[in-house]
Amino acid sequence: MEQIGADERAAVCGLLGSVDESLGAPMAPVWEAALRAVPRHAFLPATVWVGEDLVECSREAAPEQWSRHAYADTAVVTQVNDGAAAGPGERWASCSASAPSIVFRMLDMLDVGAGHRVLEIGTGTGWNAGLLAHRLGPGRVVTVEVDEGLAAQAAGRLEGAGLDARVIHGDGSLGHEAGGPYDRVVATCSVRAVPPAWIAQTRPGGVVLVPCGLG
Ligand SMILES: C[S@@+](CC[C@H](N)C(=O)[O-])C[C@H]1O[C@@H](n2cnc3c(N)ncnc32)[C@H](O)[C@@H]1O
Repeated sequence: MEQIGADERAAVCGLLGSVDESLGAPMAPVWEAALRAVPRHAFLPATVWVGEDLVECSREAAPEQWSRHAYADTAVVTQVNDGAAAGPGERWASCSASAPSIVFRMLDMLDVGAGHRVLEIGTGTGWNAGLLAHRLGPGRVVTVEVDEGLAAQAAGRLEGAGLDARVIHGDGSLGHEAGGPYDRVVATCSVRAVPPAWIAQTRPGGVVLVPCGLG
């Protein structure tokens, strides 16, 4: 795991304050511990895209600006055009790291407890899976990502951070039966309807948490 410097520690404290404000209450101690132990910046790529025009921001060329985006309570675009090269005006977001207050709101709603097994759909950067793995311990989190490159990068980041979450490359609408049944299933990509596989792979009394949208 990359060392966390004083600047990053201060940025984490600032982010914690922003998330608490947005949630309207202090975050649960287990999630505060996860936020401190699993730094968001370690899960972001060296280039992110910001603002409505998706302006490129490189960690190497503009380290302070990049860090500000890493620790702002806003979504950050982490891949454009499915990973293909794209100039200004041609870019569309194909993956983003959700705003931290959304991440922690969903984690709170998920209501995970000791011993739970969780299936996440939409690995993206791997940060949410890393937070869950920190909370639940080794062998408890399976996460499915449809983009092969993103899945490989997230697996590398999780391993580098010493977090044991299993990353599966595949179509998340099928879930991952081999790892089930799960106590919790959480989607971080929006869907039009809950795929039957998610229900089938959730144990009786479990929870399926899904952001509803146009998917
Ligand atoms: C908002 S991002 C996820 C953020 C992520 N949880 C994180 O911590 O960075 C949504 C992700 O869902 C992925 N996705 C979209 N449809 C999917 C599907 N059917 N199966 C698996 N992953 C999918 C996208 O490729 C994208 O990486």
